[in-house]
Amino acid sequence: MKRVLITGANRGIGLEFVGQLLARGDRVFACARRPEQAAELQQFAAAQPERLALIALDVADPASIDQAHRAVSAQTDALDVLINNAGVFNSFPSSFEGHGDPPFGRLDAHNLTEVYRVNAAGPVLMAQRFVDLLRKGSAPKIVNLTSYLGSLSLKHHGGYYAYSASKAALNMFTRLLAADLAGQGVTVISISPGWVQTGMGGPRAPTSPQESVAGMLRVIDRVGPKESGQCWQYIGEQMPW
Ligand SMILES: NC(=O)c1ccc[n+]([C@@H]2O[C@H](COP(=O)([O-])OP(=O)(O)OC[C@H]3O[C@@H](n4cnc5c(N)ncnc54)[C@H](OP(=O)(O)O)[C@@H]3O)[C@@H](O)[C@H]2O)c1
Repeated sequence: MKRVLITGANRGIGLEFVGQLLARGDRVFACARRPEQAAELQQFAAAQPERLALIALDVADPASIDQAHRAVSAQTDALDVLINNAGVFNSFPSSFEGHGDPPFGRLDAHNLTEVYRVNAAGPVLMAQRFVDLLRKGSAPKIVNLTSYLGSLSLKHHGGYYAYSASKAALNMFTRLLAADLAGQGVTVISISPGWVQTGMGGPRAPTSPQESVAGMLRVIDRVGPKESGQCWQYIGEQMPW
């Protein structure tokens, strides 16, 4: 049984992680901004109260990260996996012109910094705060959810400035954390879930959350210190930076 903390667990890929981890017998710390409003998580928790803890967490708020750390530390002395899943495509209440963020010429200062705060700063601050519990875990891992849009070598088209740059920054944090935690036995990877049918991915996405998460769990189970600092895809192949 692994002890797994996952951020953004109330819907989309995060919620699917919770379901699959519970189904295979793991203990899950499911973090969400408003767990009291997360109906599916509440149902899971009612069915398996001893293996699922619901934790309030806004990854863009350092005080909330501290509070979540206190709540998790009160329930466990170690974590085996931290999945930095929470993410935003843009910071607007509804998507900009369908599904993008503002193009060059209309870039928005607030959006550029807010998306970075959630997608890049949030995960590295989570890693820093929870590394004490991870160090006491068994074969501990930090898993950062990236995107092909964050790959410098795959990005041949323009657009999606805020999101793409935030995921490229997240990939750099994966490299830095992997180097700094190498001596402490903590494996750190980026992983791309594919284009997935969620609120973010939209209904035309070719991959179901079930397929994406099953593939990512196969990769997460398999990687160790030799793979630390690498970028993977849910299909089990590496992704170029
Ligand atoms: N879907 C895709 O095609 C795709 C492709 C590549 C990468 N990804 C990445 O995969 C991850 C999950 O995406 P998804 O498709 O499941 O997206 P989603 O359906 O939009 O869900 C995003 C999750 O992140 C949470 N979140 C947003 N801001 C947060 C914050 N400040 N603090 C804590 N939680 C926050 C949301 O919570 P609320 O309900 O409170 O907003 C929600 O639970 C993201 O990192 C995304 O960038 C997705």
